[in-house]
Amino acid sequence: SNVLSWQRSSFHFQPNQNWMNDPNGPLFYKGWYHLFYQYNPDGAIWGNKIVWGHAVSSDLIHWKHLPVAMVTDHWYDVNGVWTGSATILPDGQIVMLYTGSTNESVQVQNLAYPADPSDPLLIEWVKYPGNPVLVPPPGIDFKDFRDPTTAWRTPEGKWRLIIGSKLNKTGISLVYDTVDFKNFTLLDGVLHAVHGTGMWECVDFYPVSKFGENGLDTSFDGVGVKHVMKASLDDDRNDYYAIGTYDPVSGKWVPDNPELDVGIGLRYDYGIYYASKTFYDSNKKRRVLWSWIKETDSEISDVRKGWASVQGIPRTILFDPKTGSNLLQWPVEEVNKLRLNKTVFENVEINTGAVLPLEIGSGSQLDITAEFEVDKESLERVQETNEVYDCKNNGGSSGRGALGPFGLLILADKDLSEQTPVYFYIAKGSGGNLRTFFCADHSRSSKAVDVDKEIYGSVVPVLRGEKLTMRILVDHSIVESFSQGGRTCITSRVYPTKAIYNNAKVFLFNNATEARIIASLNIWQMNTAQRQTHFADLVI
Ligand code: FRU
Repeated sequence: SNVLSWQRSSFHFQPNQNWMNDPNGPLFYKGWYHLFYQYNPDGAIWGNKIVWGHAVSSDLIHWKHLPVAMVTDHWYDVNGVWTGSATILPDGQIVMLYTGSTNESVQVQNLAYPADPSDPLLIEWVKYPGNPVLVPPPGIDFKDFRDPTTAWRTPEGKWRLIIGSKLNKTGISLVYDTVDFKNFTLLDGVLHAVHGTGMWECVDFYPVSKFGENGLDTSFDGVGVKHVMKASLDDDRNDYYAIGTYDPVSGKWVPDNPELDVGIGLRYDYGIYYASKTFYDSNKKRRVLWSWIKETDSEISDVRKGWASVQGIPRTILFDPKTGSNLLQWPVEEVNKLRLNKTVFENVEINTGAVLPLEIGSGSQLDITAEFEVDKESLERVQETNEVYDCKNNGGSSGRGALGPFGLLILADKDLSEQTPVYFYIAKGSGGNLRTFFCADHSRSSKAVDVDKEIYGSVVPVLRGEKLTMRILVDHSIVESFSQGGRTCITSRVYPTKAIYNNAKVFLFNNATEARIIASLNIWQMNTAQRQTHFADLVI
């Protein structure tokens, strides 16, 4: 019906129909960005015949769907062509490694390459006749060995990559060296392991510049570099990263802060965001993050819709030199090309308890940037409390404190019977220390009963003299929210039944009991990018 068809994205990548999960092997080649993805051609739920869907774009925003790149046609991948990564060799050759689930459901690694390297669209893929190139090593369960990373160069001139696994309840990343991607040597020990984190899916490992400038190619090493280790935790379905130091000689990586180790510290995103993968974009000298955004409605609804999942808007990833302790994630600049007419709101005062409508027409496709200032007097006046704030457990957007919550109501109907608040909350601790939280509350997002209604969020670093800022991309049922330039991010899936089409509105709100807030915003309507183009429509 109308309610379900409204949910499809207008500028987030998704196939024309059916189930999608992880992004696979992203790369830039001969003028085209390639995205492969876990795809079930048989329906809107995950299945045991997952293949590699394939699409290309010249700007990471407008996509053309290509024929499926790899299917389940050999004993070593007959139960699924699973997640993998691309490595581009110095001579431009593409090497693709992916996990196959065999006829006996053993997880093995396979090698594939383009049949015709002169084809910029890379339509045809060849699987190496000697597959599998890697099987689970002794001591590793046959179902805990998957998702090879992009390879990087070692000081000896070999290629090195990692594969996620677990030993009992310890998440680990196995390290392999190779010269030809056909024969591999397992290194002693692991790159890293964290007790209690369970199976590590879709591990990722890459350098970032300490100065927060350009993105770095995966093989880059030298002064002024830190290394990021990321794992997708099968047990809690979130993507965790940590920043640390890599020693290429010992093949070990150590987190800067052991309390923020992989799987127990920082997340890319505090909402729906899983099985992500970065690649180095040689075209624009940046590192770009892709991620699977699943549905949070029911399987029955997905089957009725005929599709499930989208990919996040690709994010540029940089180290944050100001805090020195987190990454910055920001939608790739190309998304700005979708901005249409802009409405500006300057210095809007939001008194305690107020809700103010923002007249912008339909709120289904928006890019919002907002700046909030809390009045200084209340910041000083308010008592120090030792409250242990946590977006989830403090009543969400309706739980009132002295200095929050305040922010925006997204995808709200005129009566506010449906609304998705995206907001800040400031807690004043001992010594007058302020801790700021960034949250999204889904408890009133939808009147439907078969959708998740959780509250998400986390602390966000705010440095002295900084205003509170957020950016929100609204694309029908997908809302991606970024605070303080991308220090803390929250992706939401939202399934309103009334706040759709022209009835989707935006409001400012301030539920603080003491703080008066001044807000300034730019709100753009966003153009539609998802044209249902197919291979046959491509003119090159
Ligand atoms: C992550 C994952 C991967 C696996 C793929 C199968 O979502 O479970 O570990 O390779 O999906 O579709």
